[in-house]
Amino acid sequence: MIYSKILGTGSYLPEKVLTNFDLEKMVDTSNDWIVERSGIRERHIAAADENAATLAEKAARAALDTAGVDAKEIDMIIVSSTTPHLVFPSTACLLQEKLGIAGCPAFDLNATACAGFMYGLSIADQYIRTGAIKKALVIGSEVMSRVVDWSDRTTCVLFGDGSGAMVLGASNEPGILSTHLHADGTHKDVLYLPQTTKSSPEFETVKMMGNQLFKLAVNTLGSLFDETLAANNIQKSEIDWLVPHQANMRIIEAMRKKLDLPMERVAITLDKQGNTSSASIPLALDEAVRDGRIKRGQLLIMEGFGGGLAWGSALVRY
Ligand code: COA
Repeated sequence: MIYSKILGTGSYLPEKVLTNFDLEKMVDTSNDWIVERSGIRERHIAAADENAATLAEKAARAALDTAGVDAKEIDMIIVSSTTPHLVFPSTACLLQEKLGIAGCPAFDLNATACAGFMYGLSIADQYIRTGAIKKALVIGSEVMSRVVDWSDRTTCVLFGDGSGAMVLGASNEPGILSTHLHADGTHKDVLYLPQTTKSSPEFETVKMMGNQLFKLAVNTLGSLFDETLAANNIQKSEIDWLVPHQANMRIIEAMRKKLDLPMERVAITLDKQGNTSSASIPLALDEAVRDGRIKRGQLLIMEGFGGGLAWGSALVRY
């Protein structure tokens, strides 16, 4: 039996930090409102010369380093990004060039939004399990600060920039136990980002119906956990860690309760990073691995949920 094992993780956050107090000077909001409604205190903002590919390179190199894997061993690059620098070439191709590993397949998942990392992980896992490839780089890289309307207080306080990466490798030992992907286009209007083209009336930014989205997220993710546990025939008491998409602390809290986990067993970066869309799950995992909280052999459940709607989970023996 071949499994995909997480060989290493890495991440990168731009230097500039934008706090809630900074936002108070930009829009009609308050630190208290943002913390109470979302749990976010600050977020990182990319510099003018940074983009999804430069962020991805830093996260990828850190993950390769931790894994002890040479970039030349990578058989596939998957980058999830809603905020690519170019429509094409893909961010994955730009990254491939930076890593100097021309030849292997490299592609973006650009429309799976905040669920993108789960989609990437699932695709890489299928290729590794079938023996088609041995090692993959899966990355979420986002510059959300370039697609939010900085005069709209209902969205601009929520998002941040960053990149998280993972090196997956074939192993005889259990690693990724199962992945579960879903989408429902009937909710296309709840969260969307139009493409800016020559005929666009203005520069397009993220549009969101926060309230509806909140309810959809809580209900959908609850069923997703049931599905993930049932597929593996395990009880929630066996889960060691929840590594969730970081959109809102109240959504994460509902998920924690659903799994009966103490808050210390949830990887949280939301307070310091905001919602970094498809980068948030690998960013949270990398932080908890690096500071020693998540240990080898522990059982993790990961979930992502976002525009599409699209959502997905993974059960992983780390
Ligand atoms: N500062 C101060 N007030 C704000 C504000 C801000 N930044 N943003 C909105 N408000 C106001 C609203 O205008 C509204 O005022 P009103 O009652 O006078 O109309 C009030 O606060 C409540 O707004 P509401 O949207 O109902 O708040 P909420 O409790 O639903 O919280 C979100 C808003 C966005 C934090 C929350 O809905 C959420 O996190 N939704 C899910 C988001 C998500 O998951 N997004 C990404 C998925 S990947």
